Amino acid sequence: MTSKTHRLASRVKLADAHLITKMLDIANGLDDVIKLGRGDPDLDTPAHVVRAAQEALAKGATHYTHPMGIVELRRAIADSIRAEGGADYAEDEIIVTPGGQQAMFIIALTLLDPGDEIIVPCPGYNPYQQAAELSDAKVVKIPMGMETNFTLTAEMIAPHITDKSRILVLINPNNPTGTVTPPDEVRKIAELAAKHDLIVISDEIYARIVFGNQKIQPVAALPGMKERTITLSGVSKAYAMTGWRLGWIAGPKELMVPMTEINHAFAISTAAVSQHAALAALTGPQDCVEEMRQEYASRRRVIMAGLDAIGMAYAEPQGSFYVYADVSSLKLGITASEFCQRLLAEGQVMIYPGTIYGDHTDDFVRMSMTQPVPRIEEAMKRMAKVVATIRAERHQPAQ
Ligand SMILES: Cc1ncc(COP(=O)(O)O)c(C=O)c1O
Repeated sequence: MTSKTHRLASRVKLADAHLITKMLDIANGLDDVIKLGRGDPDLDTPAHVVRAAQEALAKGATHYTHPMGIVELRRAIADSIRAEGGADYAEDEIIVTPGGQQAMFIIALTLLDPGDEIIVPCPGYNPYQQAAELSDAKVVKIPMGMETNFTLTAEMIAPHITDKSRILVLINPNNPTGTVTPPDEVRKIAELAAKHDLIVISDEIYARIVFGNQKIQPVAALPGMKERTITLSGVSKAYAMTGWRLGWIAGPKELMVPMTEINHAFAISTAAVSQHAALAALTGPQDCVEEMRQEYASRRRVIMAGLDAIGMAYAEPQGSFYVYADVSSLKLGITASEFCQRLLAEGQVMIYPGTIYGDHTDDFVRMSMTQPVPRIEEAMKRMAKVVATIRAERHQPAQ
């Protein structure tokens, strides 16, 4: 008889449910959980976008589209990239995908041979790693820490480049750390990539959510970089449209042609209705993006104040909607993973450990600003209480 484990292909690394799935299952059995785990905004997709999608459906946007996406949307994406200081893209240099997430797999399958090396920031958004592993490529992780506020630098990357290096991933602002690689450093990283003939995947999906005077330098707009950069983005974060599943990649045409074939093999095309929604998002009024950014800025202040009150250190949150906080700074004698489980079970607050994002320490947690201010205030109170309980346990004399 075939045993269950033999049914799985050898490439499957995780036969059990992912920690995120497990935590969501635990949360489902609890009352009144404040969910600061997933990177899914609680904010609604702007009403004019929903209306445009309804109208598109009524007019028959119920079919497959061109595998690269409807041309009006590709033009709108090109305009939006240009408006944000990015490179000039033609409509045949852009592919619309069912979320940026799927794009990562399209890129990996198109560009990576077994044994090729892909350099990823660590901690960093983990599907890049999963996509590379599916392609039998070698993942080279660049560990980041508080010394650089968890941002990648050219100096950190340089020693890891070998003759097998093919792709460098830059996520700016970064998930899970909520930190920004400054424009000067992006320039140095781009020069390094050019010197070693690397392709850069520049994930700019959070680029419109930055705080203070932070600026995002689009990699492809730097001299000589357009031909070696694949810009990855989408509407999920800036327009609160995660459930519409719509992202894109922009890059050199000779790479977009084979990537279109893989996109077609996976999905045929991105859902027509979602493409019309994204078109309305990109071409309609943009105040909604700024309003949401300001809302995240308020939430960010509340989280920072709460962490300061607890005495928990964190990386300066400069962009995206995450705060990366250091559980080890509390000296509770437990790991970040254990802390997340206790916080969920005893405080009904869900946050994720940094290990999910490949953090080499189990010291940090990611907190998403995906609840309104009063709920975040309540979450910080609950967190303070759980911390106090753990502290009290530690100080109890042994029985
Ligand atoms: C850095 C980063 N890139 C890309 C994505 C993919 O987003 P989507 O598939 O919703 O476009 C995410 C989602 O959380 C992300 O954090």
